Amino acid sequence: MNSLYQTSIHSLPLLGHGKVRDNYAVGDDKILIVTTDRLSAFDVVMNEPIPGKGMVLNQMSDFWFEKLGHIVPNHLTGVAPESVVAADEVEQVKGRAVVAKRLKPIMVEAVVRGYIIGSGWKDYQDTGSICGIKLPAGLQQAEKLPEPLFTPAAKADLGEHDENISFADMESRIGAELAAKMRDVSIALYKAAADYAATRGIIIADTKFEFGLDDNGVMHLMDEVLTADSSRFWPADSYAPGMSPPSFDKQFVRDYLETLTWGKTAPAPALPADVIDKTQAKYFEAIERLTGQKLKA
Ligand SMILES: Nc1ncnc2c1ncn2[C@@H]1O[C@H](COP(=O)(O)OP(=O)(O)O)[C@@H](O)[C@H]1O
Ligand SMILES: [Mg+2]
Repeated sequence: MNSLYQTSIHSLPLLGHGKVRDNYAVGDDKILIVTTDRLSAFDVVMNEPIPGKGMVLNQMSDFWFEKLGHIVPNHLTGVAPESVVAADEVEQVKGRAVVAKRLKPIMVEAVVRGYIIGSGWKDYQDTGSICGIKLPAGLQQAEKLPEPLFTPAAKADLGEHDENISFADMESRIGAELAAKMRDVSIALYKAAADYAATRGIIIADTKFEFGLDDNGVMHLMDEVLTADSSRFWPADSYAPGMSPPSFDKQFVRDYLETLTWGKTAPAPALPADVIDKTQAKYFEAIERLTGQKLKA
């Protein structure tokens, strides 16, 4: 499995390195998005790659874009990434990149929660609500919510944590009409994806979508979609309310990091080889369980 920690593509102008993705301009209306094997935990990027993780994420997103295309337009152009880079750069993009429409990002992330876990569970224990939305009393950790909840978050600058905001705050930031559209589309996407995943024995506990606007103001789904990085996937056969189920993501890394005395700020501590291997295995298992197909290397 070839591994890629950071791209070095010189034939295109670099737009920037995100935590996980490297973006390059393709003309003035498209971008090449390369998903690297970097892993971030607690919003800090680890020093070691998880070999093949970027391919898993990219192929998961492609899978969902295709499956959910009837609900909302997305950023894919169909242009082959291999065709926009120089011959000696093809290896860096193979199986892990897309050429996307260059959109104006909407600076609010669309979080949908179907189950009560993570920061939502903490919030509920403290306040009886999640992000200000009142919930019935007596819910257990990881319990299915009566209806999926939409809980927006303001997109943070690099190095900062995203911040939960109320729906009213979202409306004042981006306008009531766009806020309502984002909410309705996000819930429809979540429901369709959760229904499909259930047929594969997977629960999608929660997820985060990003949207952008094209030059005509049309809202598009962009970035990564329903990957193991942007979602909590639980194997349905080991799910039970009252405890935190094992998930197909960076749980191994997070659990390892919790054993250290580390302040969860950069620089990241070194990851032992067995944590890297187990994390890699989880990502590979996730795409196979979800799509029924092995990673296309
Ligand atoms: N079609 C698109 N047009 C413009 N920006 C995009 C598009 N798709 C994704 N992005 C942006 O590209 C970046 C992807 O890099 P990533 O490593 O995920 O960043 P982050 O550290 O912000 O999560 C994000 O800032 C995302 O909002
Ligand atoms: Mg991201």
